[in-house]
Amino acid sequence: MGKGKLAKFEENKLFANLFQPTYVEAVSGFPLKGQWAQTFFHNTADIVLELGCGKGEYTVGLARKYPYRNFIGIDIKGARLWRGLKTATNEQLPNVAFLRTRIHNITLFFAPNEVSELWITFPDPQPKKETKRLTSPPFLAHYKQLLRKDGRVHLKTDDTDLYHYTLETIQSEHHRLLLHTDDLYKNEDETLEVKSVRTYYEQMWLDMGKTIKYIQFQLAH
Ligand SMILES: C[S@@+](CC[C@H](N)C(=O)[O-])C[C@H]1O[C@@H](n2cnc3c(N)ncnc32)[C@H](O)[C@@H]1O
Repeated sequence: MGKGKLAKFEENKLFANLFQPTYVEAVSGFPLKGQWAQTFFHNTADIVLELGCGKGEYTVGLARKYPYRNFIGIDIKGARLWRGLKTATNEQLPNVAFLRTRIHNITLFFAPNEVSELWITFPDPQPKKETKRLTSPPFLAHYKQLLRKDGRVHLKTDDTDLYHYTLETIQSEHHRLLLHTDDLYKNEDETLEVKSVRTYYEQMWLDMGKTIKYIQFQLAH
């Protein structure tokens, strides 16, 4: 039988690469803000975030492929993060960390220009609440505060409405659209990095016969 939630929460306390500060701790000054590479990863490599990482498959998958870059998966659900933590620990991946927090608070944890890429993988589409969509203008404004000027945002989704909503937001806010496809696996460009890792949700949607949509863009500065 799988481990229960409470057992996962207990085990989470033991992982050296999981950060789960309280809000009060975060607002009083998160010590790694602006220091992730130097102080935690002990290198000068760039930082890539996966937002709403769930079990952290993208974080772990990219970390395996790019050992000289640093990857941080962020989610509010500790029991899901446990899976990514377990895999990263078993595989002794030194370039992976996880942060348990709400994405609304992300600017408390990263300094301006600290992040070079953001992956948003299969976010909840939030059809009724625009303010909860991870590609809505208030979230993009948060991301802008920590992304480098040449940084990129990647969105992978099965949801047609969220795909179109994000394209419209990019256009109306004058961000720079770099790539988009409403059927990733029909796209013949085999060099597309985005095809190299599939998350749990992605596989589930593919098994159900859904197409995967992908957008890559840069934020206007
Ligand atoms: C549908 S799941 C996708 C998980 C993973 N990216 C994948 O593709 O398998 C969405 C995840 O986003 C997280 N999430 C949604 N909104 C969030 C927020 N505002 N802050 C932190 N996590 C959030 C949820 O907890 C959930 O794990």
